[in-house]
Amino acid sequence: DKVIGQETAVLTDAPAVPPRITRKHATKVIVNLEVKELEGRLADGVSYTFWTFGGKVPGKFIRIREGDDVEFHLNNHPDNKMPHNIDLHAVTGPGGGAAASLTAPGHSSVFSFKALNPGLYVYHCATAPVAMHVANGMYGLILVEPKAGMSKVDHEFYVMQGDFYTQGKNGEQGLQAFSMAKAIDEKPEYVVFNGAAGALTGDNALKAKKGDTVRLFVGVGGPNLTSSFHVIGEIFDKVNHEGNTAAPAKNIQTTMIPAGGAAYMEFKVNVPGTYIMVDHSLTRAFNKGALGMLKVSGDEDKTIYSGKMTDEVYLPEGTSMRNAERSQAQAPTAKTKADRVKLGEAIYNNNCAACHQTTGVGVPQAFPPLAKSDYLLNGKAPTIKAVTGGLQGKLVVNGNEYNGVMPAWTLSDEEVANVLTYIYSSWGNSGDEVTPEEVKQHRV
Ligand code: HEM
Ligand code: CU
Repeated sequence: DKVIGQETAVLTDAPAVPPRITRKHATKVIVNLEVKELEGRLADGVSYTFWTFGGKVPGKFIRIREGDDVEFHLNNHPDNKMPHNIDLHAVTGPGGGAAASLTAPGHSSVFSFKALNPGLYVYHCATAPVAMHVANGMYGLILVEPKAGMSKVDHEFYVMQGDFYTQGKNGEQGLQAFSMAKAIDEKPEYVVFNGAAGALTGDNALKAKKGDTVRLFVGVGGPNLTSSFHVIGEIFDKVNHEGNTAAPAKNIQTTMIPAGGAAYMEFKVNVPGTYIMVDHSLTRAFNKGALGMLKVSGDEDKTIYSGKMTDEVYLPEGTSMRNAERSQAQAPTAKTKADRVKLGEAIYNNNCAACHQTTGVGVPQAFPPLAKSDYLLNGKAPTIKAVTGGLQGKLVVNGNEYNGVMPAWTLSDEEVANVLTYIYSSWGNSGDEVTPEEVKQHRV
């Protein structure tokens, strides 16, 4: 395979991917990669001093072809404080280039390698302490296309997962320092895609149109956690496990990507809507940040996905009633406030305790407390509306933010009165009584 000509590699920041390689021969490729240490956003109100290959986490995407001769220039910005190097898993040779590329701030190192094996590979810094350099964001992907090239798709995206170990707990505001102790325990405060919680949500979501084919290049920088990568609502038509370019597996739900490994997957988006990318180790997704979005625009296709068609009361024989009419008839009527509290306790334990807990303390970051909840101090009307109409969206209770969904409860006026009287009478709350008349007046 003769090496013909020379070019400078086009490098891209995630989620962009450099263009497909169309040349039919090997060439000499110059790669210029600059290491920068800089402060950036890790989560809302939380910043971190990242060490980066190219100014962002993950590092620049590098795309070359099997057989290429790569002349690699690693430039360590003069404002940096640390020496750095690079170990590319696409390199055959000691340290994957690490020893040849150790570079002090304000210096530039050059080494070259031949891309012998096609595949999707991780690169990372390998300067001691290695885990710290990687934990600070020093990783990226290099794709070595096979000689035969890669098929054309409508969209290619670059996503990389990493775990972050901050001194402060998840959500603690301000500039956060690295915690080596948490890294050694493998207990990250954040697990994120593309360097920050929310890097791929809302306005930053990946975008496609119905009918498009999508290829995701997904890597895991770690330093520690393996990802169970999944897109909610999609099936990967093809997965190239471990970044191999030879043999895709078909029809995969979740694919495991090890720390220091990569995979790429293709699928066609048939149905418009928002698809959520997660590490299916789900507290990482919903509590630590490993959640991204792919928004698909276009017209609905009801033959593939109908959407919700009906929502009816489901009442197998012998189950306790949830619907208002039946329970109205059956439920005993409270005559005194003490009756209400007693009857309300049973309703609470049946309907509310699963989320708000029997002691009313709720679950941090998921279900707000009812014990000493300042929401209850807004008066009875909002509370009655919350229970009868449901609640969703951002809500601050006792200074903590929640962003969940509580369904509307189909309880009778009497039942709502009883459960709320129980709540108001418990756990240090105001002791107010709520009557069925008040519920009737304010219910949704
Ligand atoms: C919020 C009452 C059942 C999930 C609230 C609030 C009240 C309330 C008063 C306002 C915030 C606060 O004071 O803490 C009740 C009652 C229930 C019940 C009386 C039983 C009839 C549940 C259940 C779930 C749930 C079973 C879980 C499936 C939530 C969530 C919020 C909330 C997620 C916050 C919604 C948001 O973030 O906008 N609930 N709840 N609740 N509840 Fe419940
Ligand atoms: Cu480094």
